[in-house]
Amino acid sequence: MSSVPDPFNVAGLQNAPILLRTEHISKSFGAVTALKDVSIQLRKGEVLALVGDNGAGKSTFIKVLCGFHPPDSGTIEWEGKPLHLKSPLDARQHGIETVYQDLALVNDLTVYHNMFLGREKIIRFAGVVPFTDNGGMKRQTRDHLNRLGINLPSVSSLVRQLSGGQRQSIAVARSMQTAPKLLIMDEPLAALGVREGGLVLDLIQNLRRQRETSIILIVHNYNQVFEVCDRINFLHTGEIVLDRSTADTTEEELIRIVKSGLGRSAVAQAIASAGGL
Ligand SMILES: Nc1ncnc2c1ncn2[C@@H]1O[C@H](COP(=O)(O)OP(=O)(O)OP(=O)(O)O)[C@@H](O)[C@H]1O
Ligand SMILES: [Mg+2]
Repeated sequence: MSSVPDPFNVAGLQNAPILLRTEHISKSFGAVTALKDVSIQLRKGEVLALVGDNGAGKSTFIKVLCGFHPPDSGTIEWEGKPLHLKSPLDARQHGIETVYQDLALVNDLTVYHNMFLGREKIIRFAGVVPFTDNGGMKRQTRDHLNRLGINLPSVSSLVRQLSGGQRQSIAVARSMQTAPKLLIMDEPLAALGVREGGLVLDLIQNLRRQRETSIILIVHNYNQVFEVCDRINFLHTGEIVLDRSTADTTEEELIRIVKSGLGRSAVAQAIASAGGL
């Protein structure tokens, strides 16, 4: 038995049930083939990095998973059953939440108002006069952020007063309110400095430790991939050309493969010359 601590229960992950499986997903926009035969699988609680160059098809793939684009062909299996998503709302109702790059927060509202946007808590004074329950919304927001390990000086701060990392954390926290089974994040670390990105990485690590929510993360920095992800899927011109667990790969090997030129045969060659991965 190993005595090395395994805080993320990486060893246990291989026995976790498969939450999502895609088979041969393809999607074209006119003459542009954005996705070709994309097959992935994701276990419960697993954190998967989707990496690849600009235009590789990463955002298109997650837009298929969140019900925004119907695939031209291929299938999605969710908890072992076929899933035909009709819309992003349909995806949310199945427990698939997405945090987009623009975050969709309202900068001129407070943190707690953003958290309850569109579903403000109303209570009635003397059972008749309605008013918004600001105290209740603040309390619930504080509890929710605490559970996720997000520290903010005040939930009454305006979102525009927060740092980029704090804003990204709030967007993730808002998506986590429904306790989704899958959380998808499109470049949550883009445009954040090291310290700011660190806040978001800590939040992802907290979720990873709990192993309740599966995560798909589009990320460009390989260092961050190895820090918070269990698996890497590399997309190149719409195809998955590499699927590896981070435990079996090093950053240097990944960089060598990426630099060696892409395409299935180039990757196979690079793996062989690296002595296998
Ligand atoms: N709605 C659309 N209409 C037409 N072409 C599109 C559309 N969405 C994506 N594409 C094309 O599909 C390809 C894949 O784009 P996608 O946005 O998925 O790439 P990406 O991997 O997310 O890139 P980036 O890292 O720059 O965000 C690109 O050639 C892009 O121009
Ligand atoms: Mg993109």
